[in-house]
Amino acid sequence: MEKRFSKIIFDTDPGIDDAMALLFALRSPEIDVVGITTVFGNSNVDATTRNALNLLYFAGRTDIPVARGAGRPMVNPPGPTAEWVHGDDAMGNIGWNSQLNPAQHPVHRHAAEFIVENIMAHPGEITLVTVGPMTNLGLALQLEPRIAQNVREVVIMGGNVLASGNVSPFAEANIMGDPYAAALLFSAEWHVTMAGLDVTQRTQMDTPYFDALTLSGDPFGVFVSQIVRFYQGFHREWYDYKNGAVDTHDPSAIAYLIDPSLFMGEYYSIVVPVSGPAEGMTIADRRGKFYKTPKVNCLMRVDSTRFLDLYMQRLTHDE
Ligand code: BDR
Ligand code: CA
Repeated sequence: MEKRFSKIIFDTDPGIDDAMALLFALRSPEIDVVGITTVFGNSNVDATTRNALNLLYFAGRTDIPVARGAGRPMVNPPGPTAEWVHGDDAMGNIGWNSQLNPAQHPVHRHAAEFIVENIMAHPGEITLVTVGPMTNLGLALQLEPRIAQNVREVVIMGGNVLASGNVSPFAEANIMGDPYAAALLFSAEWHVTMAGLDVTQRTQMDTPYFDALTLSGDPFGVFVSQIVRFYQGFHREWYDYKNGAVDTHDPSAIAYLIDPSLFMGEYYSIVVPVSGPAEGMTIADRRGKFYKTPKVNCLMRVDSTRFLDLYMQRLTHDE
């Protein structure tokens, strides 16, 4: 395995697969989560912030600061949130309707300020990982454009090069959540890796896999197999997936950081329409002739077997 170490700010809208990704990161010695920033998306920002705090409490990591972020897109009107995918509590209806530990609080900083301050204080060190709508990154870029030169890299779960969209024929949910912010992100001069639907729908966890997580008795593994039940129902009804299979969206971004050799990427400039029928589409210039924006490392293929083994190992062995 290609060894590397990342200090990350995890920008997220938890969300079932966001939780799966965060626990994966917290169990991985290659990753140091220096902060969590929250955003609307799978639910409103009150709920996603509560879930971030609850996840850290559950994981015994209340030392990690949480900065609450955007409650709506930068320019476009707010769209629907995704409780029908993630449950009323956005955590698979496990009853997370309030904070588990009322003594926890987000820091007194907007997520965008938190991102700017941390990146500028540690030039070249911080990796931004965004697995929700990209509003906080868009706001941070407006606040301090020099974060582009001072971040180590940016890894997003979002978009799609060849795969169809999942919230319109063309668009993936996180890009559609704030196409304007995504357009800013793809035009900034920083190194972006995009774990989009081309790979995230190629790795699926199913009922036998979740049974193995349960049987391990590991609290993280057991928790994931509980929250995922609602998500399995969504995938069965919406995609007609068999055997309790679910896509592995947000954990793919973390898997890439832990071991980039799990993926094969291709570099394309990307443009995002902010309105019209193609709103939220990540149009990739596959001929390399039409767009001048920085080229994005678009992950196109994944070694799913090794990825699933890695996730299983991390969620079932607390070392
Ligand atoms: C993305 O949308 C959200 O529902 C998931 O958490 C993931 O980040 C997948 O399109
Ligand atoms: Ca997400």
